[in-house]
Amino acid sequence: MDLEGKNVVVTGANGGIGKALVKGLLDRGAAKVYAAARTANAVEELARLDIDRVVAVRLDVTNAASVAAVSEYCKDVDVLINNAGVNRCMWFMGPTGMESAREEMDVNFFGTLAMCRAFTPMISSRSGAIVNVCSIIGLVNLPVNGTYCASKAAVHSLLQGVRAELAPQGVRVIGVYPGPVDTKMTAGQEMPKATPDQIATAILAGVENDVEDIFPDPMSQAVHAKLLQDPKQVEKEFATMIPA
Ligand SMILES: NC(=O)c1ccc[n+]([C@@H]2O[C@H](COP(=O)([O-])OP(=O)(O)OC[C@H]3O[C@@H](n4cnc5c(N)ncnc54)[C@H](OP(=O)(O)O)[C@@H]3O)[C@@H](O)[C@H]2O)c1
Repeated sequence: MDLEGKNVVVTGANGGIGKALVKGLLDRGAAKVYAAARTANAVEELARLDIDRVVAVRLDVTNAASVAAVSEYCKDVDVLINNAGVNRCMWFMGPTGMESAREEMDVNFFGTLAMCRAFTPMISSRSGAIVNVCSIIGLVNLPVNGTYCASKAAVHSLLQGVRAELAPQGVRVIGVYPGPVDTKMTAGQEMPKATPDQIATAILAGVENDVEDIFPDPMSQAVHAKLLQDPKQVEKEFATMIPA
């Protein structure tokens, strides 16, 4: 799909990957980018990126009224990028294991589901696409981020199901499985990280080249290759990364 001339919604647009996606879409000639953020300040800042082509909107993906209002307002959308997400860096038996799991499921899974449901009528009428930002650790559990991984595993299953359900309507559903990226989400965590620009570039190139499952960085590509070869071995390696 050529992104030039398309109207695209990006959720979590003020975040690291979100902002890089907005800029990348403008560079690729998108006609309009609905840049969605939770706070008024973030909305104002996003609107200044391009006064002609960025339409900044207020959106909390966990709030049904907010999702309904935004889908009512953005009636001409070709592509929805579900990028908003939270990671509470918690393990299942950790002090806030239950609360973190609930919050991550609420934003990452139920928020993505709500957005897919709200935007499907217009996207299917325009033979468009839905892009869901999952994670490589949605495919194998990393115990220090255990509850987050569970929510992203749910997103992986969601996108497979939605892909099957919407294929007859000509809607493409694309999964994105990044490794660690240098954003607020991983602040203070020492490890090799891709830049948000690298990830956004790989996502948008993948969308334009009709790639269904995008592994946007060397780390995610390496883990994915190992998962195809020997998933049990990858599980065992990740299982050594337990909370101190
Ligand atoms: N960073 C990584 O290593 C990594 C790896 C794999 C996948 N991912 C995924 O990539 C996506 C983007 O993350 P990021 O790394 O760019 O992190 P980020 O900089 O923390 O951005 C997350 C964005 O999600 C928004 N958000 C959180 N809860 C929301 C809600 N209820 N409604 C609407 N927006 C909400 C945040 O808004 P506020 O600013 O208002 O909180 C922020 O704009 C996420 O889905 C994340 O899980 C990240």
